[in-house]
Parts: sequence; structure tokens; C-alpha cells
Amino acid sequence: MSTRIAVTSQQGAYDVLIEQGGLASAAASMAAATTARRVLVVADEQVVQTHAATLLKALQPGDWEVTLTATRAEEPLKRMAAIEQIWTAALSGGLDRHSAIIAVGGGLTGDLAGFAAATYMRGIDVIQVPTTLLAMVDASIGGKTGINLPVPGLGHLGKNLAGSFWPPKLVLVDCDTLETLPVREFRSGLAECVKHALIGHPDLMRLLEVHADALRDGRTGTLDDVLVQSIEAKRLVVEQDEHEYGRRMLLNLGHTFAHAIEPIKELDLTHGEAVSVGLCAAMACAQLRGLLSAAELNRVTDLLTGLRLPTQISVPQRIDDLLAAMRYDKKASGGQLRLVLPTSSGAEVHDDVPIADVTAAWRTVMPPSSE
Ligand SMILES: NC(=O)c1ccc[n+]([C@@H]2O[C@H](COP(=O)([O-])OP(=O)(O)OC[C@H]3O[C@@H](n4cnc5c(N)ncnc54)[C@H](O)[C@@H]3O)[C@@H](O)[C@H]2O)c1
Repeated sequence: MSTRIAVTSQQGAYDVLIEQGGLASAAASMAAATTARRVLVVADEQVVQTHAATLLKALQPGDWEVTLTATRAEEPLKRMAAIEQIWTAALSGGLDRHSAIIAVGGGLTGDLAGFAAATYMRGIDVIQVPTTLLAMVDASIGGKTGINLPVPGLGHLGKNLAGSFWPPKLVLVDCDTLETLPVREFRSGLAECVKHALIGHPDLMRLLEVHADALRDGRTGTLDDVLVQSIEAKRLVVEQDEHEYGRRMLLNLGHTFAHAIEPIKELDLTHGEAVSVGLCAAMACAQLRGLLSAAELNRVTDLLTGLRLPTQISVPQRIDDLLAAMRYDKKASGGQLRLVLPTSSGAEVHDDVPIADVTAAWRTVMPPSSE
């Protein structure tokens, strides 16, 4: 299968090219997307020997001058030091203003490489080659890049608190790269697909429900439609509101809750797993506000459970601490909580949710023993 989804952006349109085996023939698609021929491949160290190697083979010496640097995909390392390492590798590789960075990895690698590209020599081209489902359907599209920062007094990192909007020149999605992805990480990506379904895409919801058994086992036979519909959902939103002044905030559904629990080590949650719990908390909050029925909430928690995604955290947490972390999330506005809440027909941004409702929503995702 080869599908091309064009995304418009204020800094120029780009394609999301979904092509099985596309990495092995990447030279043509990349040459069409950027004039750069001197490139730095920033690869997640887990895929250096596999998918980055396939790409390096495709970018033949003579036509391309390629340098490689590896990054480690760990949230505590999504920091300025990693950006400096990429800048240094770019300098060593002789990259100038007309060169490009190619990110090969999950969302973490894409965010780092994208931010490094946005700032190196005041901005060079970036191409995203996502190798996780989460990055394919979400992180690689829309141009958001960033790093985590330590938040004073909080004791752990605040997510993506520094960054930029830097749209890629091309997103190359090759599902063959998912063959090496651990099933837990694959399921994490499904959480973002559920989020996309919830922001007004009932067809995607039905698709996920019908194929839940195959999807949860990482069987990719039914993935094509899920990929296309999920990428389309993201495209629609980022085209309408590239810089997140309005509609793009809907993509944060579940994330203000998720970002409060994701950095807590004892919970051991991937980004997608934190989003899954965050979606449940946001739905509980919406139900308390009369925006969603119990049946609608149960339908989504059933789907998440069917996809083997968590709907609760495993260790009780102090709700005051979680509320404090939510206030530091960059989706807060002037210290006021800004929550995206699902409704029967999509999702809405709310600035006026009483803390009592947010507290009650957190209680619904605490483990049973903490009640
Ligand atoms: N920019 C955006 O719009 C956006 C959107 C959503 C999430 N994000 C960010 O994306 C990150 C989460 O992305 P993610 O879930 O892809 O996580 P990730 O990049 O940390 O990758 C998850 C794990 O899978 C491994 N991995 C990646 N590809 C692999 C492959 N093909 N085979 C084997 N192992 C592989 C990585 O080494 C890592 O251990 C977070 O930092 C989040 O903040 C950004």
C-alpha cells in the first residue's frame, strides 16, 4: 500500500507518505521533499542497527552525504543536553543552513531532532521517519517539537515545556518498522488513536472496536485503515489551528491528566499508557459535568481495556500532588486549569472546571485499594 496525505502548514505543505517498505526506497521521496543532500540521521539507539541502517543503505554515497548520531529514548533524557549532542553531531558532519536532519525513531526522537533542526543555524529542514505507532499517528505530524524541563518545587520534569513549531518537509511512514516494536509500545500508540476517535471520529472508534483483538496483539494486518483515519484526524486539526490557539487544543484530550502521572517512576507508564488513564479521568470529569453519559464512558473504557491499555493507575497517589502537577502543565493558562473534555459529539475546552470535579475524576482512576 502507498498512500499520500498532504498537510498544509504556514511554513509550507508537506506529505505524510504511508508506504510499506518505503524506507528502503527513501532516497526518491526524500530528494523530492528537500534540496538538502548533506543530512544528519538522528536515530533512536534501538533502531540504529535495523531501520536507520536500512535508510543509510538507501541514501547512497555520491548522491548523499550522511552522518549518523544515536539518541536514547528516555523521558528523563529528553533534555537540553540531548539537543546539544545533536547540534554537535551536525557541526561535526559539516551541516550548514542548506542541510537537513532526518529523525528515525519514536515520538521522543522526533521531538528532539525536530527541536534541534528548528534551532540549528536558525532552522534547517527536518524529515520525520516514525518507527512507533504513536509517532506515526500523532507525534510526527503537525510540527510540534520540544524537550522536558525541571519544574521548581515539583521534583520531576515538566513535559515539553520548551520547544517550537517546526513542520517537517516529509513524514515517511513505513509500517515494516513496527515489526521490531515491543507490543506494549504498539498498544501505547493505540491510545492516541482512541483519542483521535474521541474528538469527533466515530468511524475510527468503530474500526478500533471491530479490530481490537488483532490490534492489541500488534497484528498489523488491519492497521492500514486505522493509520489513515488517525492521521487524517490529526491533519484536520493541525491544518485548522497549526499553532494551538483553538481547535488544536482538542488533541490534548486526556493529556493534562496524563502529564501529571507520566513522570511518576513507580507508576511505570509509557506516554500512551498515561494518555489512556488520562482519557478515563477526562471522561469521568466530563460525566460529572453532564457532558457524557455513563454508557458513553463505559464504551470507551471497554475499548481501552480490550486494547489492553490501563484505565487506572497501579499505585495510589496524593491528589493534591497531581493537581499541582496539572497546574504546571503548559496547557494551563495563567495557573488556571484548562481541560479538554469529551462530549457526546466530540470534545470541548473548559477553563472553569471546579477543582472538586477534577479531584473526583482522579479518584475514579485510583486503584481500588485506595478507595
Ligand atoms: N510532537 C508531538 O506532537 C507529540 C505528540 C505525542 C507525543 N509526543 C512525544 O512523543 C514521545 C512518546 O513517543 P513514543 O511513544 O513513540 O515513545 P518513544 O520515542 O520513547 O519510543 C518508545 C520506545 O520504543 C523504542 N522504539 C522506537 N521505535 C522502535 C522500533 N521500531 N523497534 C523497537 N523499539 C523501538 C524506543 O527506544 C523506546 O524505548 C513523548 O516524549 C511525547 O511527549 C509528541
